Amino acid sequence: MVGSEKSAKEPGINTLLTHCGNDPHEYYGFVNPPVVRASTVLFKDAHSMATDNQPYTYGTHGTPTTDALCKAIDRLEGSAGTLLTSSGLSAVTLPLLAFLEKGDHVLFVDTIYFPTRRFADTMLKKMGIEAEYYPPHIGADIARLIRPNTRVIFTESPGSNTFEIQDIPAIVKAAHAHDVIVMMDNTWATPLYFKALDFGVDISIHAATKYPSGHSDILMGMVSANEKCWQRLYDANTVLGMCVNSDDAYQILRGLRSMGLRLNHHQQSALTIARWLEQQPQVARVLHPALESHPDHALWKRDFKGSSGVFSIVLASGGAEEARKFLDNLQFFGLGYSWGGYESLAVHVRLADRTVAAQAYEGPVIRLQIGLEDTQDLINDLKQALAAIAVS
Ligand SMILES: Cc1ncc(COP(=O)(O)O)c(C=O)c1O
Repeated sequence: MVGSEKSAKEPGINTLLTHCGNDPHEYYGFVNPPVVRASTVLFKDAHSMATDNQPYTYGTHGTPTTDALCKAIDRLEGSAGTLLTSSGLSAVTLPLLAFLEKGDHVLFVDTIYFPTRRFADTMLKKMGIEAEYYPPHIGADIARLIRPNTRVIFTESPGSNTFEIQDIPAIVKAAHAHDVIVMMDNTWATPLYFKALDFGVDISIHAATKYPSGHSDILMGMVSANEKCWQRLYDANTVLGMCVNSDDAYQILRGLRSMGLRLNHHQQSALTIARWLEQQPQVARVLHPALESHPDHALWKRDFKGSSGVFSIVLASGGAEEARKFLDNLQFFGLGYSWGGYESLAVHVRLADRTVAAQAYEGPVIRLQIGLEDTQDLINDLKQALAAIAVS
């Protein structure tokens, strides 16, 4: 297990990622935990069955494999408990279902991941829950939008596709003064680069599909709660019957071991490429909060320990046709949704759903996921794709 009990100093992040989760000596010394595939669990006698008096009672409630992953995430997040769900999107919908009911009001940042908005505008609406959108730079002014029936403020920082940084401590302060819960989709930074619960966030949400998996082959979500919110979240999950299989949990735990190293490569390569892109005449702007030119750079620097490998560029001019030309000329960058895997990806993002944070951009916005390829090869690829849309 993690050696923090023995050592006064918190271990470094890669040491933590190497040792968090399972204790090898709880399973014959094998370094990795067993993959326990399970629905039924047998009780040794009728008394144990009547009292649920054993660690595992049924597959939906967890196995030693899923527990090893949850323990690892709790160690990284500093959370009281973590739940695993079938996708990043269900990790968003589960806590909202757990904490909202008919007649409630919920505030979402306008730069939210689009399927989160779609859930709010359809399912939550159908349940009689009112969703309102706020601009990403609202900070302490969020207090003005809080009503007597506001239960949750939902944050995502940086914002999906356009990478605005939110003042999370200011939002948390205003929320807690009114007994409102703060949830955060923290998929971009992971707990390695932004430890949400340390900033007062009550519930931290991750699409484990991205960096924890790292290989574009698993779908999973993780929801981690502080002491105040854990029991209600856990109870809702039991009612809804959400769970994951142990094979996938094992793969995510395996992914965690190398996540620090991978993220560091994604970070360095993405920054080098972002800086190069800033110099290109076909690019109007690079939307990456770790760049000094980004309007929220100071806020990012204050709160974040690093940046991951996803950012966007705004082409200098044109529209869908220029975006298509650029994408069709890329060779190493695949055209696909999602991110966090080992391979580079590009997508033309649509921002039409935004309301209060709608902005005019000089040209099409292209999101890039920088993978683990050699940085110079990716620059060369971008160079020839930009040449295809050379400005006159
Ligand atoms: C910020 C963010 N949250 C959640 C998700 C959802 O993850 P999943 O694809 O596993 O449903 C995504 C997916 O792209 C995302 O970008």
